[in-house]
Amino acid sequence: MTRKIIVNLYMTLDGYADFPKYPGSDIQTDEPDEAFVDMWINNYDSVDTIIYGRRMFEVHTNFHSEAARKPTDPKFLFEFSRWLDRNQKIVLSHYMTKTDRQNTRFMKGDLTEIVSALKQEPGKDIIVDGGPSVAQEFIQRGLADEYWLLVFPVILGRGKQYWGTMLNQQTLELLSIKKLEYGELVLHYRTVR
Ligand SMILES: NC(=O)c1ccc[n+]([C@@H]2O[C@H](COP(=O)([O-])OP(=O)(O)OC[C@H]3O[C@@H](n4cnc5c(N)ncnc54)[C@H](OP(=O)(O)O)[C@@H]3O)[C@@H](O)[C@H]2O)c1
Repeated sequence: MTRKIIVNLYMTLDGYADFPKYPGSDIQTDEPDEAFVDMWINNYDSVDTIIYGRRMFEVHTNFHSEAARKPTDPKFLFEFSRWLDRNQKIVLSHYMTKTDRQNTRFMKGDLTEIVSALKQEPGKDIIVDGGPSVAQEFIQRGLADEYWLLVFPVILGRGKQYWGTMLNQQTLELLSIKKLEYGELVLHYRTVR
């Protein structure tokens, strides 16, 4: 079985990559919400590699490595951090070549060739976790086999857009749709090839 490329997108209704404020958005609980379960926890066994753009990797490491966790963080976030730490992290960068973070390697060049090389390596499925520029290039080049979209009930009108010019039309099959408590939508699509 070929490794799947799964692109996770967090967006406003108008397609901007952001985590906006809206009624309910700042409510923290000790349990993961359904989006976190669908996009991450349910994939713990089937995914062993995460792809980041260099900027996203730097931000992410400062929040989501186990070393960066605060003692007051909920248990599920510690488990998430440990899962990320032990999985392979591919960081796209033209310049960065070193990090203290374990299980990390750097790649650069043509994204289609990078994906093709990764798919030929043994391993489980791969999640692309941004940032927005990298995610947009995955979309534009049609490199995703699946998408998980968490859509916030906000029309933001500014920021970094995920949607842009496509090289070719991409047709999707809707695998699931969920409405969450505060009006967010979780959409799961498979690319029809
Ligand atoms: N994930 C989200 O949903 C989300 C939402 C809102 C905001 N954000 C924020 O977005 C920011 C990061 O996103 P971003 O779009 O600015 O940057 P990004 O996508 O994380 O990273 C872009 C960088 O990736 C590297 N890169 C991309 N393609 C490459 C390739 N083919 N070969 C080599 N290197 C490649 C380049 O790094 P070099 O410059 O090192 O060459 C490029 O500058 C963070 O501040 C994050 O907090 C994220």
